[in-house]
Amino acid sequence: MARAATRYVCQACGAVSPKWAGKCETCGAWNTLVEEQVEAGPGLAKAKPVAARKIALVSLAGSAEPPPRAATGIAELDRVLGGGLVPGSAVLLGGDPGIGKSTLLLQAAAALARGGRRVLYISGEEAIEQVRLRARRLGLADAPLELAAAINLRDIVATLEAAADTTLVVIDSIQTMWLDSLDSAPGSVGQVRACSFELIRAAKTRNFSVVLVGHVTKDGAIAGPRVLEHMVDAVLYFEGDRGHQFRILRGVKNRFGATDEIGVFAMTGRGLDEVANPSALFLAERRGNVSGSAVFAGLEGSRPVLVEIQALLSPNPGGSPRRSVIGWDSGRLAMLMAVLETRCGLRLGATDVYLNVAGGLRVSEPAADLAVAAALVSAASDQPTDPGMVYFGEVGLSGEVRQVAQADLRLKEAQKLGFARASLPRPPARGRRSAEGLELAEVGHLSDLVARFTFHDRGAAGAAEP
Ligand code: TYD
Ligand code: MG
Repeated sequence: MARAATRYVCQACGAVSPKWAGKCETCGAWNTLVEEQVEAGPGLAKAKPVAARKIALVSLAGSAEPPPRAATGIAELDRVLGGGLVPGSAVLLGGDPGIGKSTLLLQAAAALARGGRRVLYISGEEAIEQVRLRARRLGLADAPLELAAAINLRDIVATLEAAADTTLVVIDSIQTMWLDSLDSAPGSVGQVRACSFELIRAAKTRNFSVVLVGHVTKDGAIAGPRVLEHMVDAVLYFEGDRGHQFRILRGVKNRFGATDEIGVFAMTGRGLDEVANPSALFLAERRGNVSGSAVFAGLEGSRPVLVEIQALLSPNPGGSPRRSVIGWDSGRLAMLMAVLETRCGLRLGATDVYLNVAGGLRVSEPAADLAVAAALVSAASDQPTDPGMVYFGEVGLSGEVRQVAQADLRLKEAQKLGFARASLPRPPARGRRSAEGLELAEVGHLSDLVARFTFHDRGAAGAAEP
């Protein structure tokens, strides 16, 4: 077959070059040239120019049926998808290598296949035997899904176009797929993009859902999956620490559902188990009566999640103090420490600060400010926080504690898990919040929180004091 011509396009300025180069001649940017097909790939065949036709314009109102969905039966996955897979949609599942993407998708594919749907699982990474071995380990060997080990995209697309009534096609992974009309190697930006385009086009025309697996390193170093985030309908990230059992499936984009939903799983010897009550899991290893720990009543999407925030301060009289943060924003920590120092008189200057969100969860809500502050003040005073209390509230630059969304949901979850008290922002209106059984300790300013702790040793927070 004749090889289609390719060209290299700078992703920064759009300049076109016939040859690859490390630096764009036009704008001078490095590593921005990406191979693209000039014409005719398998499905990209250019139609002959035809006369333009008018497109139909319609009104905004009209009967928009909710899309029919194929629920996988794995509730934590369906929640993040917005209720199940939408026919004709493309989903990108990103995550670090080894985190459990193939395991999750094999479980979902098998569940759909057992439910009588047609599912194709195309593995480009593992041989058939390896996939079968995993299926046996997961107890899914009898599921009637159709399996293939292939990387040639032209063959795969031809197979998909011939397969009737398919519900789901899993491509594991998009970085291994290869289109013979491009010179670049599998996994390069050009290949990833061209292959995804073909698969998504096939999904839309044949009305099946396609799930693309993409490996991403922490800093997004492998550019592949990032460049196709805008091509797909939903982007899910599978996160977690390989040293931990917990895995979090997070929706970052979803054209057919809410984003910011999370699904929580635990990796076990027999695959991924759903975790219906994540708060209990995140608090399971909490030990009362240690300083530097506070429970944050957080919200992930529509779902309240309680997590333990841990802070450790250690004196560092010389040199520049370390600030190490896991699971939270380090800029936010710097801001909070500045507020504690400037507005509340706490001295943290010459101390190393370590902050950790226990269990491997990543918290992005500003509502965590108050809990982080409580953990820091508790660590600085060497006094434990009240073990029966949860904290939430956003802290402003003058030290004021601000309202956050969905206080009721957070309080309800805290009560469900046996907490008796909550520290929260002062409500703006008169009426007190109703929280059956929960004692509310309102915090108007961060110094109200600091005042709850006594600093016996004035030097505890600032060990540099002579
Ligand atoms: P995998 O799904 O292959 O990860 P990915 O596709 O994201 O690269 O999962 C790999 C890890 O999961 C591997 O280190 C072994 C572990 N694992 C279990 O602990 N239990 C299981 O039942 C399975 C199938 C895998
Ligand atoms: Mg895999």
